[in-house]
Amino acid sequence: MIRLLMVACLLLCLTLTAGCKKQEESSTSPSADQKAAALPDTDGRTLIELITVTQDYRQWPLFPGKEALYKGQHPHGAYLTTYVSPTVLAALQNKKGQLPDGSIIVKENYSPEKELAAVTVMYRRTGYNPEGGDWYWLKYAPDKTILAEGKVDGCINCHRAVQNNEWVFTGPVKPAELP
Ligand code: HEC
Repeated sequence: MIRLLMVACLLLCLTLTAGCKKQEESSTSPSADQKAAALPDTDGRTLIELITVTQDYRQWPLFPGKEALYKGQHPHGAYLTTYVSPTVLAALQNKKGQLPDGSIIVKENYSPEKELAAVTVMYRRTGYNPEGGDWYWLKYAPDKTILAEGKVDGCINCHRAVQNNEWVFTGPVKPAELP
């Protein structure tokens, strides 16, 4: 009888441990490598596809504190609408002062007649261009023709003025440090 009990106990123990193991496996999150692989390449066509077809950036939140079609300044349009990817919104709300790998900011540039003239995008990839804040720059026409992309000197040299704010003009990322 005792023997039988022991066997039963052993069996029970084995089942319990197996159950635990299974749970551990299923709760494992994807590795950092897998996450990085999911981020699009620093390539104009890939990025345009991502923000207009795979996702629609117009469904993203507006830059906090900005309405659609607010008055812009040179060299962007007379009117601007600026969208941020969910990653950027979370970082701005957490006030961590940093925009993480994969951050995307999309600005629509409108003419004085409020017609869309161009779309300008900043896309951050860690290690892409440390001297330029690791931002990949993209400008494209309403028909999706690429007008500039990559480590664009013009974009970088002007945005450098706000490098202490993650190279972003529109609003504070690091509240105390915005000039
Ligand atoms: C002469 C300066 C200048 C140049 C050149 C310039 N920008 Fe900007 N950019 C600005 C300013 C100023 C703002 C804020 C606009 C506003 O709110 O009126 C801005 C805003 C942006 C934003 C919204 C995020 C942010 O930084 O506030 C994006 C995206 C952007 N620019 C992309 C580009 C790209 C891409 C290029 C190159 C093709 C470029 N910019 C060239 C000055 C410049």
